[in-house]
Amino acid sequence: MNQNPESSLEKWRSSAQAWITDQGETGDWSRRTILDPALETILPNLQNKSVLDLGCGEGRYARILKSKGAIATGIDPTPEFIDHARSQDPDSTYILAPAESIPLPDHQFDLILSYLSIIDIPDLEAASQEISRLLLPGGEFVVVTISNLASTTNGWVKDENGNKLYRHVDRYMEHFGMDLEWRNIRITNYHRPLSYILNLFLKKSFVLTEFIEPLPPQSDPQYPYEYRCPNFQIYTLRKL
Ligand SMILES: C[S@@+](CC[C@H](N)C(=O)[O-])C[C@H]1O[C@@H](n2cnc3c(N)ncnc32)[C@H](O)[C@@H]1O
Repeated sequence: MNQNPESSLEKWRSSAQAWITDQGETGDWSRRTILDPALETILPNLQNKSVLDLGCGEGRYARILKSKGAIATGIDPTPEFIDHARSQDPDSTYILAPAESIPLPDHQFDLILSYLSIIDIPDLEAASQEISRLLLPGGEFVVVTISNLASTTNGWVKDENGNKLYRHVDRYMEHFGMDLEWRNIRITNYHRPLSYILNLFLKKSFVLTEFIEPLPPQSDPQYPYEYRCPNFQIYTLRKL
């Protein structure tokens, strides 16, 4: 057994350049086709709002938040991403920090966005305390994430001709890390049951105000598969 498994942060660091290339300026297929359009329907007016992009990566969506009039701050623990985000947007604030320990004073954000990052955060309990601490009363935590069904296993069971038969779901109530690898990117995603994630916030005086399972346009060839088992969830938790 490997006594020194590579940490998820080490994996992000060694995957950072491949990730930046893979995302490009417009994001990958899921972001372009499903997530960005759905998020547009959820986000409030951000003009002059103070917004934190939690796990901002190379900063693509922080730049979009800024283009919507927000005063955007990004945090991410991967130095290569923070360097890239700063180089693309020198006027905004990008901080090298994990979501579990954010070096900022209390109660300063109108909105915190986690765009496909809660699944990358090893200690979500600690991160939820930071999110609660940093939001203003009435502030919103908007979560774009991988469905808790989809995060249990890696993909579809296929027949001998490669046709998708069904999506494999298992170990749903467990908490575990799953190693994933594609196009020189290696990461660990942390599966948790949906009830665990929601209760972290509901027990801290948040209320759930939006919940959608976004799909691609019906004209997209992937639509039937996303309709059978959506890969994503987007929801808003408002702090009372
Ligand atoms: C899938 S990427 C998403 C990046 C960006 N939000 C986007 O949508 O392209 C996940 C991000 O989570 C970051 N991450 C890893 N561990 C983290 C932690 N403990 N706290 C906050 N972010 C973390 C990674 O560095 C990476 O930038």
